[in-house]
Amino acid sequence: MLAGKRILLLISGGIAAYKCLDLIRRLRERGAAVRCVLTQGGAQFVTPLSLAALSEDKVYSDIFSLTDESEMGHLRLSQEADLVVVAPATADMLAKMAQGLASDLASTLLLATDKDVLVAPAMNTRMWEHPATQANMKTLAARGVLSVGPAEGALAEGEVGMGRMSEPLEIVAAIESYFGAEAPLAGRRAIVTSGPTYEAIDPVRFIANRSSGKQGHAIARALAGLGADTVLVSGPTAEADPPGVEVQHIESAQQMLDTCMASLPADMAVCAAAVSDWRVAKEADQKLKKDAKGTPPRLALATNPDILANLAGAGNARPALVVGFAAETENVIVHAQEKRERKGCDWILANDVSPATGTFGGETNRIHLISETGVEDWPRLSKDDVAQRLARRIADHFARAA
Ligand code: CTP
Repeated sequence: MLAGKRILLLISGGIAAYKCLDLIRRLRERGAAVRCVLTQGGAQFVTPLSLAALSEDKVYSDIFSLTDESEMGHLRLSQEADLVVVAPATADMLAKMAQGLASDLASTLLLATDKDVLVAPAMNTRMWEHPATQANMKTLAARGVLSVGPAEGALAEGEVGMGRMSEPLEIVAAIESYFGAEAPLAGRRAIVTSGPTYEAIDPVRFIANRSSGKQGHAIARALAGLGADTVLVSGPTAEADPPGVEVQHIESAQQMLDTCMASLPADMAVCAAAVSDWRVAKEADQKLKKDAKGTPPRLALATNPDILANLAGAGNARPALVVGFAAETENVIVHAQEKRERKGCDWILANDVSPATGTFGGETNRIHLISETGVEDWPRLSKDDVAQRLARRIADHFARAA
């Protein structure tokens, strides 16, 4: 249910912070990625080391750390999340949220985020029942902040009453029900290709390209996030395997093709890989040696299979929706329309990569979606946003076709 979802977990300073270790584990088990932000108060109760070990990610704690800001500004932390969860949410944190204070990383994030926020309050009964806290909760609810708990039970200092943070599994259930409304691709299977391919020359050398795999991996994450059972067939990249996605690591175009064909049947295929157009016709068994005269060897090339065209031409096994990319520098639409017909796919996401656009190697893409019915121009978007938009567009397509 939570496959591919990215949770930004803000941990403020209350004894209930110890429960967030279990919360992280439960979320990870369900396929979510969890990134933690720890307030100074939170750090009195749990250590960054335990959070980092369980989340398998860096823990962010201080807005004034220059290295953190340059590596990962606070805006990006929230941009790269699907939901912000504050657990435990102390009375102080709720008050900061209600007032719009931005006095540390967690509160700054909460003020700057455009993502939905779920709070799990935790405090003693008197603080919870205080009119100030109750008014803050009302203000936050009116702004659309979601909440889970608190519950009644044993509190710190031997007290019993209202204010205990919800148990990790209840918080997980609240998160699942938040996303539950949003699994339009549940029951559908997706194949996504990503990254470059490596074509061996000999046992130590290969032909490759500079594809980062960012776009393909983001698409796999987004499709899985909408509930699709997703297989990501990827060449070598520095990108981490997206949680909740079945990742098949391959090197050559032929291996990518074999793995894609073996992954059929599927409802959709999105080919975002930068497949090498050629391979060396005959890979040498042994490392090629220089000859005495220093004459360079001649490499005969052979044309690689086209994976997109093969999936689109897979007869009965053809996925109902086959999507490819086209990188063009001029006559973008005309060339991409021609590519769509030549490869037999349904949609082409045409990408203007002329130098003036700064797309190549950059973080953003300007997409024109070309289908049978025409051309949709998308605004300049981050690769993550392109992925989200494509996944939603695919979900709409299947909803309409159903
Ligand atoms: N593709 C593929 N297998 C190949 C080559 C390309 O699956 N052997 C897919 C890519 O994943 C992408 C689309 O086809 O979805 C891009 O097609 P391609 O013809 O390589 O287009 P460009 O990269 O735009 O390059 P060119 O214009 O030089 O053809």
